[in-house]
Amino acid sequence: MIASSRILRKMVTAATVVTALVLVSNLISIRAQAQSGSVVKQAYGTTADGVAVDEYTLTNAAGAEVKIITYGGIVTSLKVPDRHGQLANVVLGFKTLADYETKNPYFGGIIGRYGNRIANGKFSIDGTEYTLAANNAPNSLHGGTKGFDKRVWTGKEVQDGGNVGVELTYLSPDGEEGYPGNLSVKVVYTLTAANELRIDYSATTDKTTVVNLTNHSYFNLAGNGAGAIYDHLLWVDADKYTPVDATLIPTGELASVEGTPFDFRAAKTIGSGVRSSSEQMVLGRGYDHNFVLNRPADNSLALAARLYEANSGRTMEVWTMEPGVQIYTANFLDGTLVGSSGGMYRQGDAICLETQHFPDSPNQADFPSTLLNPGETYQTTTIYKFTTD
Ligand code: BGC
Repeated sequence: MIASSRILRKMVTAATVVTALVLVSNLISIRAQAQSGSVVKQAYGTTADGVAVDEYTLTNAAGAEVKIITYGGIVTSLKVPDRHGQLANVVLGFKTLADYETKNPYFGGIIGRYGNRIANGKFSIDGTEYTLAANNAPNSLHGGTKGFDKRVWTGKEVQDGGNVGVELTYLSPDGEEGYPGNLSVKVVYTLTAANELRIDYSATTDKTTVVNLTNHSYFNLAGNGAGAIYDHLLWVDADKYTPVDATLIPTGELASVEGTPFDFRAAKTIGSGVRSSSEQMVLGRGYDHNFVLNRPADNSLALAARLYEANSGRTMEVWTMEPGVQIYTANFLDGTLVGSSGGMYRQGDAICLETQHFPDSPNQADFPSTLLNPGETYQTTTIYKFTTD
């Protein structure tokens, strides 16, 4: 009798320990899930040509969320907290795939094979001249008529501890849009646990070609549809910029920013210079210029720019390995596009900070080279890091 009640007591204790262990392990796994974030893939739509497009939603443990579609590798939404923890989408976008296909002024897309302009749509490599579409007459802009922002990429989920991401790949065939060489491209978007959107670009080719990849997100730290970004404070680590001609092709000069609206070495509002009578601001219809970053000689990641919006307390830092950043104040938005905010977008409603090699480098021998040879790997990283004050 005494022996059997002792056995019973032992069994009860063992069961309690097991239950407690199960509870603890459940709690640990719930916490791990919360700490690791998630990647959710779902169907987004079908292109006019009948190709299926997926959407990847990356969410980190802090609740920040990025949506990326396989059409163009477009960042359609990027939600980050303000100083009170309230999330807002800080990029412009559209509500439908059809809008992205038919009227997108490059919102959120991966730009390639060559970001920004190539003069008269022509360049030569080793004596062979290549001709591109003059889709921004007389120049070629952002990879031509159907650049990487209009191609359907192959997506694959990536998860590494607290960092969540999507790897996008695309094979740009030899001769596509006039560029030589089969270019195999990989772009990995990662939302880190520290509220960074990290973009790792890489590419290889089988013929010498030119490559200059970037992302064309239109940022508004007060939120998508919140109006103009003229009160945003901008700091850019650049002593020089590349002035342009009337068709927005760099003249080749690296001009000092000293005493010009391009001097953001001490943070100032974008509005303070955007309507300046300086010839360059008139030519650009606002900021639409490449800044020459003061960066270390090696290709390490360096802080290039910082954008701050006082009402929300949001700051965005831009870290890059690239030598330049195209600062574009959405000068061509004219109220005709209705976006994902439900309202129309007007001039100055966002700012793009497109990290890149300089525009028209294939025709400018003194600019850092954008050539990629067979056997080499193009590799570059940019990080948009969000914090609050
Ligand atoms: C260019 C602008 C162009 C815009 C298109 C920018 O990168 O510099 O001139 O209008 O992209 O959205």
